[in-house]
Amino acid sequence: MNRKYFIVLLLSTFFWACKKNKDIIPPIEDRYEEGEEFSAGIRTIKDESSLAFSYQLSGLNSQEKLDFFVGNSFFNQNWVQAPSSSTARDGLGPMFNARSCASCHFRDGRGQPFVNNGLLFRLSIPGTGSNGEPLGDVNYGGQLSDNSIQGVVKEGDFNIFYNDQSYQFPDGESYSLRTPIYTFNNLNYGGMNGGIMFSPRIGQQMIGLGCM
Ligand code: HEC
Repeated sequence: MNRKYFIVLLLSTFFWACKKNKDIIPPIEDRYEEGEEFSAGIRTIKDESSLAFSYQLSGLNSQEKLDFFVGNSFFNQNWVQAPSSSTARDGLGPMFNARSCASCHFRDGRGQPFVNNGLLFRLSIPGTGSNGEPLGDVNYGGQLSDNSIQGVVKEGDFNIFYNDQSYQFPDGESYSLRTPIYTFNNLNYGGMNGGIMFSPRIGQQMIGLGCM
């Protein structure tokens, strides 16, 4: 091929490629808004530690800060059985899962099931109620209460066992996966419905919900 002709061909391919790319990828300013990567805009907290969810928004005024600290103390402190010397934090029970919100939403982040009470079990039986809601178990309702105040018998306990299974990658390297097996025991209010369905759940992080 004639050298000059080859260069022209090369350049036209180059321009064609540029045009094509331009058609596919919009200009950078149309792709995202400025600051979009910050979950709370200019009020985003820049902390990647395990405390990241526990702060109030930045830039609160003093009244808002006070509201935050009062709310946060309700979230963190243990509730107690009534009657008690504290009338601000009594009324726990008669059955419950944990004494404080923070024990499941640890530092306002995700629950830590085996460190404290971060895990709970939702229960239901086949069918739906008049508003389409799941039906609870006749004896245990929609959630298993594994705690109770003094003088009241809790509903029951749960156990978790792990079934480890070994597998092999195609290249021969082995790995194992564990399947959790959940069982309920010490059920103190009779049997559970034969068709009981359950859902183990871990407390969510409290981001953007006013109780950070
Ligand atoms: C026993 C554990 C436990 C306790 C105690 C607990 N939570 Fe939760 N919380 C959960 C779980 C589990 C979920 C997720 C529910 C689901 O998956 O349906 C949740 C969800 C939430 C959500 C919704 C989060 C989202 O992103 O949708 C809020 C808000 C919340 N909890 C606030 C509270 C407050 C306030 C308290 C105290 C009064 C509290 N929680 C106490 C376990 C708990």
